[in-house]
Amino acid sequence: MNSLQQEQTIAVIGAGTMGAGIAQVAAQAGHTVKLFDVQAGAAGKGRDGIDSQLAGRVAKGKIDEADKAAVIGRIAVATDLSELSDAALVIEAIVEDLAVKQALFADLEDICGEATILATNTSSLSVTRIASSLSRPQQFVGLHFFNPAPVMKLVEVVPGLATDPDVAECAFNTMTAWAKKPVMARNTPGFIVNRVARPFYAETLNLLEQQACNAVTADALMRECGGFRMGACQLTDLIGQDVNYKVTRTVFAAFDSDPRFRPSLVQQELVDAGHLGRKSGRGFYEYDSDAVSEEPSIIPPGPAPAALEIETRGMLLPLAERLEKAGISVSRREGSAETILGDGVHLALSDGRLATERAAEEAADNLVLFDLALDYASCLRIAIAPADPVGDDAIQTAAAVFQAAGMQVSQLDDVPALLVLRTVAMLANEGASAVNEGICSAAGVDDAMCFGVNYPRGPLAWADAVGNGFVLRVLQNLQAVYGDDRYRPSPRLRRMATTGSLFHAGATA
Ligand code: NAI
Repeated sequence: MNSLQQEQTIAVIGAGTMGAGIAQVAAQAGHTVKLFDVQAGAAGKGRDGIDSQLAGRVAKGKIDEADKAAVIGRIAVATDLSELSDAALVIEAIVEDLAVKQALFADLEDICGEATILATNTSSLSVTRIASSLSRPQQFVGLHFFNPAPVMKLVEVVPGLATDPDVAECAFNTMTAWAKKPVMARNTPGFIVNRVARPFYAETLNLLEQQACNAVTADALMRECGGFRMGACQLTDLIGQDVNYKVTRTVFAAFDSDPRFRPSLVQQELVDAGHLGRKSGRGFYEYDSDAVSEEPSIIPPGPAPAALEIETRGMLLPLAERLEKAGISVSRREGSAETILGDGVHLALSDGRLATERAAEEAADNLVLFDLALDYASCLRIAIAPADPVGDDAIQTAAAVFQAAGMQVSQLDDVPALLVLRTVAMLANEGASAVNEGICSAAGVDDAMCFGVNYPRGPLAWADAVGNGFVLRVLQNLQAVYGDDRYRPSPRLRRMATTGSLFHAGATA
């Protein structure tokens, strides 16, 4: 197999957050690693950081002292670039600046042998562009690790236009040998993850812009209904509002101001105010020790209807079981809708229309829409959005249905496709557009999002599960409601919806 051998030396340049993590990964895979940083003492500090990271693993019993000593023993600090001449692979993780990176690689081409693979960990620069000033662009490839590199499995392997396919394959296989999950990605702005993930942030920010709910409620819904580890507000506070905003702006500019990637005014205002998140003590949330944490807004518990009628294609069956276990009499009907009727209230899974317009179109009294859940069998929270004429009593009854099943219920203003549904539809659409442009396969999209940013389910597998036709309809409705091309469906999604095909052969609908 075309792959680097353990005896071959790896060089890592830049001993900051990413470089130190990558050096650790390579050393754990058995390579001798040379770590270099332009700043005096930084490489030694990076190595010390790896030492304490490994000490934490020893304390947790994950590795023993001997393993730790062996890994640290394989990491040497280089004090001059010329010491890297014997490296078979050099991975650069320095400042994100095209000219600085190109100058470094020009030096490396003089120092290293012709067979050395030169790799960049850039997250936003074009691999082809960096390689354009090199004399051996065929030896150059993108290896995009995720933070923290020792923990996150994904590595996007990004060949530039001139990269030798054997070099890309060798880099790919080497990442597999390092116990990583490599995914081959075409050199396009944001590669896979930083592009496909944009709607994860954008749709929550969009709801905040429309005053549909507050940050803490949106985050709780994304976690406890969508199954994501964090909501977008928490996560951007952690990443840094400025960093996340800059990635969005970069992708937006790279796609020639495509509305799909339009940055958020809410986030821009946080950046303008210096509310950058955890690092500045304040973002969407406050991080002072005496800050009072806000609770998600919920509808107080009320009495549930004694009997319900549920029509479903299958999606709501687990919910029906939860309700039956709670002592409610449920009559189930197989049909094309996902609805729950009881005590004069009409609950329906959103399809991307406004509740108010849908109620008028369908002449449905007391229409209250609910959100998509990752799993109706276990979710602990859900959002509902009533049509404008629906009164408080009917809203309370609608909430009580989900409360009886053990869920907290948050009311959103009447926004189309609520929160989880619009996010999942847009993530799937972006994934479909990546597939359409040959950036990666459907499995590549899903692996990238699950192994790079911990999504609970790949967006395309999720679209398969709820039906690609349904996702298409949601997007078309969103596009109609907002009159915004941001929501225009990808041709690939339209094809899958029309033929009824699945993105993943063998997936269950
Ligand atoms: P960092 O600021 O933590 O570390 C960068 C290090 O590079 C510093 O120690 C600096 O002294 C050193 N450096 C700067 N110029 C140098 C040069 N010419 N030669 C040698 N060393 C030099 O930065 P971080 O976050 O580790 O990012 C590094 C690269 O990885 C960037 O290209 C970034 O876009 C990319 N990246 C960052 C991720 C993150 O979450 N932080 C994730 C994936 C990629």
